[in-house]
Order: sequence, then C-alpha cells, then structure tokens
Amino acid sequence: MTQKRGPFIGGNWKMNTTRDGAAALAAAVADGLHSDGPQVAIYPPFVWLHATRPPKDSRLLLGAQDCSPEKNGAHTGDVSLEMLEECGVSTVLVGHSERRHGLKEPEGRIAAKLRAVLGAGMIGVLCIGETLDEREAGETDQVNEKQLRSALEGTKIVRKDHLVVAYEPVWAIGTGKTASAGDAQAAHEKIRSVLDDLLGSDAATAIRIIYGGSMKPGNAEELMSQPDIDGGLIGGASLKAEDFLAIVDAASA
Ligand code: 13P
Repeated sequence: MTQKRGPFIGGNWKMNTTRDGAAALAAAVADGLHSDGPQVAIYPPFVWLHATRPPKDSRLLLGAQDCSPEKNGAHTGDVSLEMLEECGVSTVLVGHSERRHGLKEPEGRIAAKLRAVLGAGMIGVLCIGETLDEREAGETDQVNEKQLRSALEGTKIVRKDHLVVAYEPVWAIGTGKTASAGDAQAAHEKIRSVLDDLLGSDAATAIRIIYGGSMKPGNAEELMSQPDIDGGLIGGASLKAEDFLAIVDAASA
C-alpha cells in the first residue's frame, strides 16, 4: 500500500482573518506556489470567498469550511454547494471536529454533506479522529472506523481523487501537541485498511489520507514522509503564508 499518491495540503483558516488580511494571505499563497508540487487548497471563512478567489491561471484551489447537504430552500444561515461553486469553490471540508463535537453535528448529516459534495463534482475532505478520552481508552482505531463507515457506507466513489480523508486527533488540534509520526502512521494504515474493506483495494490505494493537528514547518516533513500520510490539513500555521508554504514545500520533498 505504498503506491505514490499526489499529496494534498489544505489550509483551514477557521474563523480568522479580516477581509484585507484574507485577500493578502490568499495572494501570497498563490504567488508562492511552484508550477508543480502537491495539490494545495485554502479554506477561508465563507464571507471572504470572493476576496480570496485565486486568479484563473493559479493552481491554488479555493475551499469552503462547511456546506449544506440541501440544494436550496428554507435553511436559514446555510450555504449551498451551488452558491459555493459560483464563488469558485472546488473543495469542501466535511465533519471537522469543531462541528462534529463542538456543534454536535450528527453523523447522518455529515454523510449527507459528503455525498452532496462528491455529487457536485468537488473534492470532499472528510475529517475524522478521536478525542483525548477515546485515545486514552485505546479506542482510536474503533472511533476512526466508526466515523469512516458512517460517512462512506452507501456512498458511490466515482473519482478516487475527489475523496480525501483527514485524520485529525481532536487532542492535537490547536494544542501544539502533535501525534508522533509513528502513531499517526499506525492510525493512517488502519484507516487505509478500512477504506480497502469499504471501497476495495484500488480505491484504498488511491485515496489520500492526510494528517491534521498542530502540523507546522518543524514537524511536517517527518509526518509526511510516512508511507500512509499523504499531506496535511493545517490550522494555525496556515494563517502565515511563509509557514504554510514551507509545509507545502515539505510535502514536495
Ligand atoms: P491546528 O493546525 O491549528 O492544530 O488545526 C488543525 C485543524 O483543525 C485543521 O483542520
């Protein structure tokens, strides 16, 4: 299972940046990308999507942090995939722990969102991962498997490069604590074996599994040199173009 998959690096800006700061950060990231290297996406807040839309000739992808699973209608505060598409979005985060745990987003809704994103022809980044209590109880693999199965069972994967799984241990998000490269690799390997079981070996070999949780320039290369770690989903360090681009470069190394 060590076949080369093109790496994926995402910058999840969460609820940060001003309009001008967002525009400047997006422009600096777009300018700093080389003509080849990993697939790179930024996920600014909804309201800055217009301000951060990359130039047409850029290979930087514009992403959204969430979406509605519904097409349109009476869903106050929600944003549809059609609206996002009009803003230039081609990738969406689904099931981030800050929504899954923080807002108690139900697993059925996460699965519906993922189906909608893939159905719209976009790249869906499905976030999974265990809490500290679950880790301490030795339940990391079971939690990942349960979250994966509930999101993917019954989902048809037409394009394997359109599904990215982000393993983000909740205890490592925004805490400065990172999973060791060995622990992260072990979790990713297990996730790939669940993908094999659910979707077959071709899909399991092709689907990118990326790591998130306090990834920064100093630890990115070691994490991404593991055979089953195909990139990263970066929070804090994606808010500084220099740090984010250093992680992009580490993925190309
Ligand atoms: P940090 O990199 O700030 O830990 O955030 C990770 C994350 O949640 C990305 O989605």
